[in-house]
Amino acid sequence: MAYSVVVNGKPMTADVDADTPVLWVLRDSFGLTGTKFGCGIAMCGACTVHVNGEARRSCVTPVASIGSARIGTIEALDRSAVGKALQRAWLELEVVQCGYCQSGQLMSAAALLSANPAPSDGDIDAVMSGNICRCGTYGRIRAGIKHAATQLASAKPARARERDR
Ligand code: FES
Ligand code: FES
Repeated sequence: MAYSVVVNGKPMTADVDADTPVLWVLRDSFGLTGTKFGCGIAMCGACTVHVNGEARRSCVTPVASIGSARIGTIEALDRSAVGKALQRAWLELEVVQCGYCQSGQLMSAAALLSANPAPSDGDIDAVMSGNICRCGTYGRIRAGIKHAATQLASAKPARARERDR
């Protein structure tokens, strides 16, 4: 059956079974391979995408459950101020080691910062604990999220001044 979904703002259609996980629709039908397969059972976070802005494990999300919700993937992360700030922080702090888990880490981090612009260590650990990194980059991930939050907070007054001109 054909399923139409909106991915990164663009309507797309896939001819797949209703229970096909969004992960495989993104990767195999749409060629969006930035979203990774890790465990397939919602245990590692490598496949994290956004559904209406919230982090969701795409490996256990059937395409038929999406309906009119908007899917966001790592390919469009840089379209938001939060996504841009996270990408910059990841580069500045050299967060990545092998990189395999990092698309999922960034998507979870972006959902966190969008909902909570000034997360504590506890807030970060609570949200990010479901994203596993076999290279053990957890300390740098936490530092990256805090760095992005600081950058976003200091950019806010500048953006407000721009608007008031
Ligand atoms: S591949 Fe989805 S949580 Fe591991
Ligand atoms: S950077 Fe290698 S698994 Fe996370």
